[in-house]
Amino acid sequence: MCGIVGYVGRADGVIGGNGTGHQALDVVLEGLRRLEYRGYDSAGVAVVTAGRIESRKKSGKLTNLLAELSENPLPDALTGIGHTRWATHGGPTDSNAHPHLADGGRLALIHNGIIENFAELKTELVSAGHTFISDTDTEVAAALLGNIYRSLSEEGDLDVALPRAMQLACQRLEGAFTLLAVHADQPGVVVAARRNSPLVVGLGDGENFLGSDVSGFIDYTRRAVELGQDQIVTITPDTVDITDFHGAPAEGKEYHVDWDAAAAKKDGYPSFMEKEIHDQPDAVAQTLLGRSDLEGRLTLDEIRIDPEELKEVNKIIVLACGTSAYAGQVAKYAIEHWCRIPTEVELSHEFRYRDPIVDANTLIVSLSQSGETMDTLMAVRYAREQGAKTVAICNTNGSTIPRESDAVLYTHAGPEIAVASTKAFLAQITAAYLLGLYLAQLRGNKFQGEIKDILADLAKTPDKIQQILDNSGQIKDLARSMSESRSVLFLGRHVGFPVAMEGALKLKELAYIHAEGFAAGELKHGPIALIEEGQPVFVVVPSPRGRNSLHAKVVSNIQEVRARGAKTIVIAEEGDEAVRAYAEHVFYIPETPPLLAPLLATVPLQIFACELATAKGYDVDQPRNLAKSVTVE
Ligand code: F6R
Repeated sequence: MCGIVGYVGRADGVIGGNGTGHQALDVVLEGLRRLEYRGYDSAGVAVVTAGRIESRKKSGKLTNLLAELSENPLPDALTGIGHTRWATHGGPTDSNAHPHLADGGRLALIHNGIIENFAELKTELVSAGHTFISDTDTEVAAALLGNIYRSLSEEGDLDVALPRAMQLACQRLEGAFTLLAVHADQPGVVVAARRNSPLVVGLGDGENFLGSDVSGFIDYTRRAVELGQDQIVTITPDTVDITDFHGAPAEGKEYHVDWDAAAAKKDGYPSFMEKEIHDQPDAVAQTLLGRSDLEGRLTLDEIRIDPEELKEVNKIIVLACGTSAYAGQVAKYAIEHWCRIPTEVELSHEFRYRDPIVDANTLIVSLSQSGETMDTLMAVRYAREQGAKTVAICNTNGSTIPRESDAVLYTHAGPEIAVASTKAFLAQITAAYLLGLYLAQLRGNKFQGEIKDILADLAKTPDKIQQILDNSGQIKDLARSMSESRSVLFLGRHVGFPVAMEGALKLKELAYIHAEGFAAGELKHGPIALIEEGQPVFVVVPSPRGRNSLHAKVVSNIQEVRARGAKTIVIAEEGDEAVRAYAEHVFYIPETPPLLAPLLATVPLQIFACELATAKGYDVDQPRNLAKSVTVE
């Protein structure tokens, strides 16, 4: 939530080593373009130049800020900060947009997170004579920082006044925050702080960067530094100094960003969402890559938990939110089936408030694309405090949840920019399956040959996803014809149930249509009352093959809704002719073992939601009210 960028470059013309140098505004705006998926209620920038701060900010998307900048250009500068907002305190107006100014307009501050004690601080500042012009908690933090800076700078050394003021301000702030500040007195400096909110440093040559994540500076450098909790970083063109909130020196961990900047571009697709749906064969293939040997033995080197301890695990709790939680629900079926370990899936934000039973033999598996979801982070922390072992399945290198877990299994889906998740979902299921198979291998629940066969089936999945993508014309036609629908229901059973819920979530998020996913067997216990003439109902039908197939039962469920007037749209396995008689539309997916079917059946539902939303003229990459990476509780 909220995208943050900071930049400092050197004034000697050798910036970036290419002799061209960078304008702070160019770097900051490029970063904001890439980070806009984190929030798009408003955007703003500030640059430091000629002993003063100049700032522009505008409500609405970044394009509004760009229009403002072309009407009121900013001067050349080598230091700048920028912000794209997902509103928490105060509506999305120009005055609530960041940066917020303090110290008589000489200090600018941007912020991601929530300052929980802002009301108390505001009262104190108002009594001291401060007036506020916005409704935000950020302006309170800016005023506090400005006041502290003013008294420190009057006392002495200007060079250290801003980092020191940030330390003192942070000692007074409660809640979650990333703060970036610049001051007119210190043109080549950006000072930042983080507590429970993301911030990474990008290392350049004669220039340095800050970003909410690496996409904020990926066009300029691949060298990044992770910061720990409660740390302050001061960047100049040639230095990066890290301390804790009390000024004690601290170290960050440098890593190489292996994302390709081009991977964060649309590659000729009209939207990131379409590109990311088409990235899915690769996302699954990359997540499988290098994780097993020719004999089918899984070699998950990243899982640095003693195998003997993993053998003792007697309960798994999967923690996640939204789409990631649906991936967890899919994984539960496979993990329980393969490992025979009781597995619960819990929404992270509910977990720690119910006094869960967690101990040293509990394995917590968190699923998070961003690795920054605050609800999931807090749940993982809680579980660790109770002595559980924690494994993160995550798509974002160096993010907080993996850093705070005992082990991490990265999904290699590449950057997911569209706010609604697609390729991360398939990659999460793939990674969770690898983890399940690894546990089964360790604990001897499966013969090596069986694991090898499942891995071979998984390896065939990318081509099958590609087949669905190559034949998506029919589902797109249907989507366009249904753009006036007011409500769509989705039914599934077994692993098809979370797929149905994910299909419904995609439609809600992208097309703003009421949609619900149900377990098909639950229909007769109530939801069937919703069925009336013409009600569209998607049904995810399991394969008719295999001994325990629920196929016949789901076909009965289709008949039940059809008898009551529903328009049935069926996702079925190739060759399943039995469903034709009961379906107005059938979309076939390639044959695959039942547990792997979610990796295929989800794809037509994603395409449907994306195409329908596009037909309605909506922005599928940045749906209203949403933000990627939900860093507030
Ligand atoms: C839905 C979606 C969200 C996220 C959820 C968790 O399309 O994207 O529901 O899945 O906010 O986010 P991560 O996986 O980053 O923890």
